[in-house]
Amino acid sequence: MPEVTVRTASVTEIQADVLVVNLFKGVQVPGGATGAVDRALGGLISQAIAAGDLKGDLGETAIFYTQGRLPARKVLVVGLGKAEKFGLPEVRKVAAIAARAAWKSGARSIATIAHGAGIGGLDPVRAAEATVDGTLHGLYRFAGYKTGDREDRPPVEEVILVERDEAKAGAMVAGAEVGRILAESVNWARDLGNRPANRLTAADLAEEAVRMAREVGLEAEVLERADLERLGANLLLAVNRGSAEPPKMIVLRYRGAGTGKPIALVGKGLTFDTGGISLKPAENMWDMKFDMCGGAAVLGAMRAIALLRPAADVLAVVPATDNMPDGASYKPGDVIQGLSGKTVEIRSTDAEGRLILADGLAYAVREGAARIITVSTLTGGALVALGRVRSALIANDDRWAEEVLAAAADAGEKVWRLPADEEYRELFKSEIADMTNGGKREASTIQGGLFLLQHVGDVPTAHLDIAATAWTSGDRTQEPGATGVATRTLVAAVRRYRQEA
Ligand code: BES
Ligand code: MN
Ligand code: ZN
Repeated sequence: MPEVTVRTASVTEIQADVLVVNLFKGVQVPGGATGAVDRALGGLISQAIAAGDLKGDLGETAIFYTQGRLPARKVLVVGLGKAEKFGLPEVRKVAAIAARAAWKSGARSIATIAHGAGIGGLDPVRAAEATVDGTLHGLYRFAGYKTGDREDRPPVEEVILVERDEAKAGAMVAGAEVGRILAESVNWARDLGNRPANRLTAADLAEEAVRMAREVGLEAEVLERADLERLGANLLLAVNRGSAEPPKMIVLRYRGAGTGKPIALVGKGLTFDTGGISLKPAENMWDMKFDMCGGAAVLGAMRAIALLRPAADVLAVVPATDNMPDGASYKPGDVIQGLSGKTVEIRSTDAEGRLILADGLAYAVREGAARIITVSTLTGGALVALGRVRSALIANDDRWAEEVLAAAADAGEKVWRLPADEEYRELFKSEIADMTNGGKREASTIQGGLFLLQHVGDVPTAHLDIAATAWTSGDRTQEPGATGVATRTLVAAVRRYRQEA
């Protein structure tokens, strides 16, 4: 990952392969940093604006060669869109787009102003945070497994945040640091998401979690098969029954308040989902290596939390296994009593995420969770309901739901709440057990969420279904692969959380 520094300097004196400045839509003669660059370039930028070649649309980019008129070799102007619609999410977005465009133009070093930090704009510290966060998110690439020389372009090694005003630059150091911690933690989660199942088993996931915990100073504990048997985490054990790999329940703890009533983050760590005996079709089954992205988001968030040190207690629980067909597999019709004590009749072994999460949730409740957020690639229905734009939220408590939605907005992640009326429980009613694990197609995302809520008693719980948002085919802001979605929302929720008396 590139090194990040904040430098007190003028854009006209900073040295870098590419210098990033910006332009609001509708501006004819740019001011501020962009104006200074424009003047140094003899009006090249305002000329492009006047000719209609540069409009300042959100995410638009134009590259200018400086021809020795500035120490930077090239200037990249990125459009900020309309000033009225500009906020921190837009900062992250344009920073990512600009960084990727700079990298694609061959830059090894990028200097950038903090987007939106000008007079009358956003809080400069938050603008610095979001600029660095977006930049590092955009520059992330999965190392992969190609042998031989990598034919493609070299990585960016240096990101310099430039600010002329000394006091402002001083304040921006803290923001840049937060942005770096966030993006590096999200990218750490993306690395896990991108690893295929043969290179990320439940044991590997646990090992990565423990190593990370040791590095950042978190308490870590891994519940092994025998521990799970003793506890009665029979739903996780059932899903694991067809597997050649042992199950793990990864537990991390951060103590920033000493209340003993933590906020619990519970993530689905399903390292590969074949569907089990209710086998999925072969086509595109390989995507199901992504089925631990919820767990990765929880672990990535814990990494950031350990480094940012908010005043809250946090418990992370990630039940981990793959879901495989085998002679020993659990079967449709089986009835299993999970850690919460409730019995579940299996209708589809492919609705496995809710099963392992039910045990993770019950464990969090036992450990005294005051609030819970779960994250999982739970249902294909999330794609049908909301497409790839928003993650789905299902909650049993309006205030907590509002808090999590506000955290997501803070983090620049799009979430939409779905209803959780009791009537939907009809859809997973069982004749012989407390509930089925679903399997009917209608309202499947709501069913998945409501199922989870059966295992938390009355602890305020918000469930995020990231099935449609955890993976991308790539766009101007990010590489193809795992997106790390929900990591930022979890961190924001913990940072906002204030323990009630
Ligand atoms: N991991 C899948 C969810 C999923 C499916 C994500 C397709 C992305 C694309 C989950 O375990 C699953 O298989 N869910 C089933 C549940 C059904 C059997 C009730 C689904 O959504 O089809
Ligand atoms: Mn499944
Ligand atoms: Zn799954």
